[in-house]
Amino acid sequence: MTLFGHPLHPMTVHFPIALYLLGVLLTLVGLWRGQTDYDRMALGSFVLSWIATVAASIAGLVDQNQLDINDPRRAYINPHVTGAISLLVVNGLLVYGRLRWPAALLTHRPLYVGWMLLGVIILLITAWLGGELVYRWQIGIMS
Ligand code: HEM
Repeated sequence: MTLFGHPLHPMTVHFPIALYLLGVLLTLVGLWRGQTDYDRMALGSFVLSWIATVAASIAGLVDQNQLDINDPRRAYINPHVTGAISLLVVNGLLVYGRLRWPAALLTHRPLYVGWMLLGVIILLITAWLGGELVYRWQIGIMS
């Protein structure tokens, strides 16, 4: 399945990346300025980034099927998928933690901020591995 002959996944990957990083930025600004409005916007951003990660992952699974079942390059997709699943878990727990314990940023600040920064590392590695799939292994390149 493609849209006007283009793979779907690259059209969707900007959203989880931008929304997660926006959530991190808003959380840090909220901590710095001590304003709860930023906290609320950060939570909204993390909810949207989780949804966007699910959507991008579904598109990625669809695009993956463009490759022949015996294509050896399929193996290179696995680390990228592991990154995507890890991101879903980390992002999901950030949302759950904030909803379950609204004062989490006060009571468990180092844990919450550390977990959030771990998500940034996972996000960057996942996106970099995605770039490797396209630019090194030529997956999804139109001929
Ligand atoms: C089950 C989950 C996923 C699968 C199976 C998957 C699969 C793929 C595949 C097959 C490609 C090669 C291009 C294509 O054919 O579309 C790709 C590229 C890429 N993926 Fe994923 N992906 C997944 C999740 C994600 C997530 C969650 C992100 C972002 C956080 C992401 C970021 C990227 C990026 C940045 C590229 C390079 C796009 C480009 O430069 O054109 N992927 N992925």
